[in-house]
Amino acid sequence: MKVSTMRRILATENLVGCEMDALRKQFDVTFEPELWKNPAKLREMIGEYDAIMVRNQTKVTAELIGAGKKLSVIGRAGVGLDNVDCDAATAAGVVVVYAPEQNSISVAELALGMMLSLARMLPAADASTKAGGWDRKRFFNGIELYGKTLGLLGLGRIGFLTAMRAKAFGMKIVAFDPKISADSPMVVESGARLTALTELLAEADFVSCHIPETPQTVKMLGYEQFCRMKPSAYFINTARGGVVDEAGLGKALEEKKIAGAALDVRAVEPPAGLLSKADNVLLAPHIGAFTVEGQERVMRSVCGDVAAVLRGESARNFFNFAQPRKAAKS
Ligand code: MLT
Repeated sequence: MKVSTMRRILATENLVGCEMDALRKQFDVTFEPELWKNPAKLREMIGEYDAIMVRNQTKVTAELIGAGKKLSVIGRAGVGLDNVDCDAATAAGVVVVYAPEQNSISVAELALGMMLSLARMLPAADASTKAGGWDRKRFFNGIELYGKTLGLLGLGRIGFLTAMRAKAFGMKIVAFDPKISADSPMVVESGARLTALTELLAEADFVSCHIPETPQTVKMLGYEQFCRMKPSAYFINTARGGVVDEAGLGKALEEKKIAGAALDVRAVEPPAGLLSKADNVLLAPHIGAFTVEGQERVMRSVCGDVAAVLRGESARNFFNFAQPRKAAKS
C-alpha cells in the first residue's frame, strides 16, 4: 500500500475557491464541509491531520486539540476566534492563524445595509410589492440616516469602518469601547465621541454591535439595556449573537421598547427558532463576511498561512505564534 508523505489538511466547513485548489497541489486535503456537525467523528479523524481549517461553526475545543496528535496549525477563515480554544492550542504548541481584517469591509457594509433596510422597511416593502401590492401609504414613514446618531458598541476594525461609512451618510457617531482612548486613531479619524454604555444606549438612533464574544461580553445586552434605548431606535448585530440575551431582546421588541432589530448572528447557530417574524425584525444567516471580495482576501490569507506553517515557514496573520512550538510528527 502506498503511504502518502504529504502533510494532511482537514477542512470541516464550506471552504472553497482557488486558494483551496492551490493547497491541494501541495498537501493532502480532506474536504468534509458538514463535519462540524459531528464532533465525535471529527475527534476520531483529527489524529491523522497536520492542519484543521474551519469557519465559525466547528468547535475547536481543548479535547479536539488534544486528540490532534499531529496538529501543527489551526486555520480559522475569519476574524472571530470564539470557536477556537486558543489557550489550549498555545499550550499544545499549535499555531492559530486567522483573518483579522480581511472581511471587515464586508461586515461594515452589511451593518450599513441593515440600517438602511430597517430605516426604509425594505424587506416588508419588497414582500408586499411581490405579493401584488403597491402600498405607498404603509411605507410613507421611512427615516433618513442623515442627522441620526449611530451608537457603536466596539470601535475596533469593523466598528471603525462602519463609523467611516456612517459619517459619509451624515450620521453622528458615539462609541463605547473600554479598550481604546480618546486619542486613538480610530476615534480621531472617525470623529466618534467615546461614551459610557448607558449613555450610548439612551442617545443613539441606531445601535450597532461590533464586540467579540468573550466570557466578559456574553449576554452583555439584555432586556434592561434594550429598555434604555429610545423606542424609536434600532439594534443591529453583525458581530456575535452570544453578546445578546435573546430572550431579553425578544421581550423588548414585543413590548415595543425599541423600534426594530437586524440580526445577522444568533446565540446558537443555526438557531432553534426565529426570534421574531415581525416586519421590523430583519434576519440573516451570518452572512456578514460573505462577499466575493471578502472571501478572496480571507482565503488568500488563511490558506497562505496554513501552507506556510506546514512548510516550516512563518505565518503572517497568527494569533499565538508564527511557527509550531512542538516538533511535527510524521
Ligand atoms: C468572522 O468571524 O470572520 C465572521 O463572523 C464570519 C465567519 O465566522 O465566518
